[in-house]
Amino acid sequence: MTFTIAIDGPAAAGKGTLSRKIAETYGFHHLDTGLTYRATAKALLDAGLPLDDESIAEKTALNLDLSGLDRTVLAKHEVGEAASKVAVMPAVRRALVQAQRAFASKQPGTVLDGRDIGTVVCADANVKLYVSASPEVRARRRYDEIIATGEAADYNAVFADVKKRDERDMGRADSPLKPAEDAHLLDTSEMSIEAAFMVAKSIIDAALNK
Ligand code: C5P
Repeated sequence: MTFTIAIDGPAAAGKGTLSRKIAETYGFHHLDTGLTYRATAKALLDAGLPLDDESIAEKTALNLDLSGLDRTVLAKHEVGEAASKVAVMPAVRRALVQAQRAFASKQPGTVLDGRDIGTVVCADANVKLYVSASPEVRARRRYDEIIATGEAADYNAVFADVKKRDERDMGRADSPLKPAEDAHLLDTSEMSIEAAFMVAKSIIDAALNK
């Protein structure tokens, strides 16, 4: 038996930073499952293949190597947009979920973050967290991140993107983004990541000591 922590939530809610910190603290393996959708989309874009052909996208997803995923290469806004398009396809989700589940069984424990970890990928996870924040706060964080890299950004455009991505992720038929019934809800709108980490840590410690 391994110990699995499932972390879900919308884009820019702080779940990536939180997941990395949790994995580091407990010495667990971490998989940012958003990268699996991003890598599939980027492979299609790079090869000039369509984003709306389910069987081509499925083949690409089946050939994905989870060991080489790198957020710096996959961070681009266009890649995120394309990822949320391929993520609506059931055959793509099936292929990636299989790889994600294999990862989740690693010893001594794993942290997976995404949109459907607590509801679908690891429905039996030992701990489930749902990390959210208001769309305004998430857009502000994303905007600040872009500005910090020295690039130009327009807050209203970033806000519109956040809303559009939420609609696509929450509105799709297959594995929509929603909290699992047994998830602990963490609203980081008015909470620092450090404070959110302390709340998460006490939940995880309690589960580990059960
Ligand atoms: O989290 P990130 O922005 O990297 O995810 C990119 C896209 O991949 C999301 O907008 C979502 O559509 C999709 N995704 C998903 N299921 C996951 C993780 C990501 O559908 N478990």
